[in-house]
Amino acid sequence: MIDKRIDFDHLRQDFPILKSKNRNKPIIFFDSAASSQKPIQVLNAVNDFYQKDYANIHRGIYELSERASLLYENTREKVRQFIHAPHANEIVFVRGTTEAINLVAQCISKNESGEIKWQAGDEVILSEMEHHANIVPWYLLKKQLGIVLKIIPVTDEGVIDITSYQDLFSSRTKIVAISHASNALGTINSIKEMIKIAHQHQVPVLIDGAQAAPHFAIDVQALDCDFYVFSGHKMYAPTGVGVLYAKKIWLDNMPPYQGGGDMIETVSFTHITFAKAPHKFEAGTPDIAAVIGLSAAIDYLQQIGMQAIDQHEQQLLQQAEPALLSIPKLKIIGTAQPKVGVISFVIDGIHPHDIGTVLDHEGIAVRAGHHCAMPLMNRFGLSATVRASFGIYTNEQDIDALVEGVQQAVRIFS
Ligand code: ALA
Repeated sequence: MIDKRIDFDHLRQDFPILKSKNRNKPIIFFDSAASSQKPIQVLNAVNDFYQKDYANIHRGIYELSERASLLYENTREKVRQFIHAPHANEIVFVRGTTEAINLVAQCISKNESGEIKWQAGDEVILSEMEHHANIVPWYLLKKQLGIVLKIIPVTDEGVIDITSYQDLFSSRTKIVAISHASNALGTINSIKEMIKIAHQHQVPVLIDGAQAAPHFAIDVQALDCDFYVFSGHKMYAPTGVGVLYAKKIWLDNMPPYQGGGDMIETVSFTHITFAKAPHKFEAGTPDIAAVIGLSAAIDYLQQIGMQAIDQHEQQLLQQAEPALLSIPKLKIIGTAQPKVGVISFVIDGIHPHDIGTVLDHEGIAVRAGHHCAMPLMNRFGLSATVRASFGIYTNEQDIDALVEGVQQAVRIFS
């Protein structure tokens, strides 16, 4: 039970963009899975940082740079608490989920000196529901090294088939990389069980938490995952910052991903020694202001409470799914429980882009397309769906407007 009542309608006032227009109508935003809107607290934090505390980090011997460095490093500690990681030096700031997965794919396949240690025929397990950020980095590695991608099938409900998963392990399995929650279906995967199975085979697991971190509490120690990655911009923070959590043993044994300033101890033209993790993986000047914005976003989410956010979105799902299903020929793709606030649907005889266009003219922003998950679309025999994804600002009136907008599309195109 939640011990505090949050007025989610009141929270909408924190989001200036909700006063903006889309096609000259009040904006109704259902594309938070692609990127969420930003509360004034985050916008002010970024603005204040540039106006009062901005300087490069880890380099200046003056107070302003010390202040900026402290704000940056304090965010590392805040992220640690947010995902309940054991140590702040296991938190690496990256550009986003995509960069984090590319980093892991490129670095885990090498030894600490940067020599390739994986061999042709080694295997990576992915699921059929991954978005492109958790497919393409591994595909690139397949092209580079001749590794094999083994794919866990998804059931008609949109659930990872655990029995098939267990059968995919072999002595060549190097890593499992799976999403915590599906961006296209909303399914929350049984990752704790999947991690346990992988560890029984001595195989590490990367969890793509891009669609989980905005919606519910994460505890990387309880999950016992080896890597956990997510993006700031989907959880009310600015673009340009994301997080790679990795167990220290992996960070210590992986080579740097990129070279540049701030990730070294000593440099000459003949020999370079690297800083310890996490700095070893943060070459060059990062998006400092985005990191400060991430700090404000975490404060914002924690003041509301992740449990309250989850409950709010579950109530909206309970309102939205039956209302949408009452529309003739509408089919929801992804009927698993539990789900995050994501509803993908198709209507027989109407192209998803046409539905999206009608909604757009009503001020309603949805995503229509393959959702950067083409293999999943193929699995369901579809080229596209309409996806309505919720944020903490989504309310009952938004759902009513969505349902009315879809009904209008049906009237126009039937
Ligand atoms: N992965 C993002 C989405 O689901 C871009 O829309």
